[in-house]
Amino acid sequence: MADLTTPIELLMPPIVKFGPGSAAAVGAFAGARRLSRTFVVADAFNATRIDRLGLAGSVEVFAGVVPEPDVPNLETALAAARAFRPDFVVGFGGGSAMDLAKLVAVLSPGAVPIHDVVGPDKVAARTVALAQVATTSGTGSEVGIRALVTDPATQNKLAVQSRELLADLAVVDPDLTMTVPARITAETGVDALAHCAEAYTNIKAHPTIDLYALEGIRLVGRFLARAVADGSDVEARAGLALASFYGGICLGPVNTHAGHAVAYPLGTRHHVPHGAANAVIFPHVLAYNAPAAPERTATILAALGLEPSSEPAVVLERAKAWCLSLGIEMSMEKRGVPESDFAAMAKEASAIRRLLDNNPRPIGEDDILAIYRAAR
Ligand SMILES: NC(=O)c1ccc[n+]([C@@H]2O[C@H](COP(=O)([O-])OP(=O)(O)OC[C@H]3O[C@@H](n4cnc5c(N)ncnc54)[C@H](O)[C@@H]3O)[C@@H](O)[C@H]2O)c1
Ligand SMILES: [Fe+2]
Repeated sequence: MADLTTPIELLMPPIVKFGPGSAAAVGAFAGARRLSRTFVVADAFNATRIDRLGLAGSVEVFAGVVPEPDVPNLETALAAARAFRPDFVVGFGGGSAMDLAKLVAVLSPGAVPIHDVVGPDKVAARTVALAQVATTSGTGSEVGIRALVTDPATQNKLAVQSRELLADLAVVDPDLTMTVPARITAETGVDALAHCAEAYTNIKAHPTIDLYALEGIRLVGRFLARAVADGSDVEARAGLALASFYGGICLGPVNTHAGHAVAYPLGTRHHVPHGAANAVIFPHVLAYNAPAAPERTATILAALGLEPSSEPAVVLERAKAWCLSLGIEMSMEKRGVPESDFAAMAKEASAIRRLLDNNPRPIGEDDILAIYRAAR
């Protein structure tokens, strides 16, 4: 793990608006910058309430973002944006809408294909303004430099990473999350937790990020059960929105590890939503890593409000019981992931070196297969 002598770079959108009602900051931002052609990238639900953004001028709404967007979904959004020629792109939704908005902002002014910009620092300078408005408390994509789309040809997530994807304005308005159903609240909440916990137990864990990671975990421990039980709990919604934001900060310079890598094939091959996939895998990878990061694992349990332990079997049992208490379906089979695919999934996950190399304990194909069997 890194220490105080390890250099690190932190990136944050230059303007972050946090708090109830802050969504209207998008219109004020556009007015102040004299932006007049706004292209909003939204899912079908959020497309019905664009008025919350307070936009004036010419506004075009792409309402077709699907959960876990793939390359064809991106292409449709790009075609609409190219026809409209915006000077301002707004992502309005969960991680799916915000990730597509990032790619629309950097790819729509030109003709560069997505495959040419996959990986770090391949994107040309962004020429249109970009704002992100989060409506789930999960991904933290509003503060991030990455966008993920699934390639149907390979069933892999293509990860584009660049500071050009960083928004000019990020809005975290907990009012917008009040409508998230209990199941999605629980699953996306564990995604936020996973970002923080995976950064905290990461090989690249760093004191500048530990602060956000630990507080994000505490906020999830304090507020997730409350928001699942009562979606109208304003304080709990705000606490989770902050946890998600902190998780997004963790993703930038540190990122996730095996937890996300092992979860990815559940989404790309079997369409388990991102948060749900991470929730199913979270207790298993936390327990797997406990021998390599015993103190930090115990600290994570304590921050969640659970009795601390670094004994793998105990860690697994406590973390899984906590997920079950939130009403999360933790069985891969019950989520439609057949055991017959576990071997192919383990092979696929074991190739995601960009994340597996961050894991505090070496993890290979056989270990991943054992995790899938344990999560069956
Ligand atoms: N860029 C990053 O750093 C990053 C990090 C984590 C995840 N992701 C990506 O984010 C995506 C998942 O995002 P997500 O978990 O936020 O889910 P999502 O954006 O797919 O939304 C999930 C569902 O909730 C609905 N929804 C969104 N906001 C709502 C609201 N306020 N009220 C009611 N319904 C609402 C959506 O219409 C959708 O049906 C995945 O593609 C994942 O790969 C990106
Ligand atoms: Fe995630």
